[in-house]
Amino acid sequence: MPSIKFVRTWWPRKPGRRRCKLAESAFELYGIFGHPLAHTLSPVMQEAGLKAAGRKGFYLPFDLTPADYRKVLASLPRLILDGFNVTVPYKEWTARSIKHRTPEAQAVGAVNTVYRRGRQWVGTNTDVYGFCRALAKDGHFRTQGKKIAVLGAGGAARAVVYGLAREKAACILILNRHPERARKIVRDFQRLFPKTKLQASALVPGTAKAALNEADLVVNSTSVGMKKGDAKLLQAVWLPRAGTKPKLFYDLIYRPAETVFLRQARLKGHRTLNGMSMLLYQGAKAFECWTGKKAPETLMRRALTEALQTHG
Ligand SMILES: NC(=O)c1ccc[n+]([C@@H]2O[C@H](COP(=O)([O-])OP(=O)(O)OC[C@H]3O[C@@H](n4cnc5c(N)ncnc54)[C@H](OP(=O)(O)O)[C@@H]3O)[C@@H](O)[C@H]2O)c1
Repeated sequence: MPSIKFVRTWWPRKPGRRRCKLAESAFELYGIFGHPLAHTLSPVMQEAGLKAAGRKGFYLPFDLTPADYRKVLASLPRLILDGFNVTVPYKEWTARSIKHRTPEAQAVGAVNTVYRRGRQWVGTNTDVYGFCRALAKDGHFRTQGKKIAVLGAGGAARAVVYGLAREKAACILILNRHPERARKIVRDFQRLFPKTKLQASALVPGTAKAALNEADLVVNSTSVGMKKGDAKLLQAVWLPRAGTKPKLFYDLIYRPAETVFLRQARLKGHRTLNGMSMLLYQGAKAFECWTGKKAPETLMRRALTEALQTHG
């Protein structure tokens, strides 16, 4: 773990009063834990947010091995950070290690944001909010009563299904390479959301083709499409033509900006949305958890867009 010597500044509340009455940090320190972390855009986005909000602060990436992250979790009460994010592969582990969790974090079983409330650390999951806000605001999609196909059953898919069911989707079919993971999501969430019909299936041609035909919204929450040379998740022939009723295809991946999944959908005339706005809104929500202030979203979005244009 990088070693940071962090000196807090002490000064009297009023001139002439005894010193050391008030402890107030000269600047704020946030960070993100994950492994690997080379390409994270969170520092650019969060430091732009802090600057725009007139706060003195830093947001640092901590690329830690599991052994080092274990030490961080074990020494939380003494951690000098004011708040932090957690990303792959530590979200589930953090959820199991933090005593105080929000209902989202508890149900999803993953924590991506940790903030202080008094002397306690609280773990939450802002991916749920980020996904739903992006879907409504940038995807112009109203979830209530809709049929949805979710591809994938990892940590992100759990946040997606939780958010969609909370927004009263009529039915959600989860398709995954290993269908037992999809069935676990159904078991975990069906009793929480009895009005949404949850179903699980293997990601195989027949079921996938039927699901793509039926769904109003198709979400890719697998990691397929991030790397050049990734095999296609779907065959183009499985996708119906949009005709008069275009569907929304939403990929949580934002790098590349247009994955094969989104390109296939666009070429058939459907609407598409990538994961950049979800990244923005989950980060904005984390900012609000840490600072208690509204996040300067416009400037955070601009910083993200510029970073993506510069680094691809
Ligand atoms: N935009 C955002 O703010 C945001 C936030 C969170 C996550 N994400 C993105 O969401 C994606 C998933 O993240 P995660 O945390 O859920 O990862 P994860 O827990 O590792 O899950 C990966 C998922 O991808 C599936 N998968 C991997 N390789 C596959 C292949 N070759 N064929 C079919 N399925 C395959 C896995 O299926 P199996 O279960 O069968 O292995 C699993 O469902 C990542 O691309 C991540 O960057 C974006």
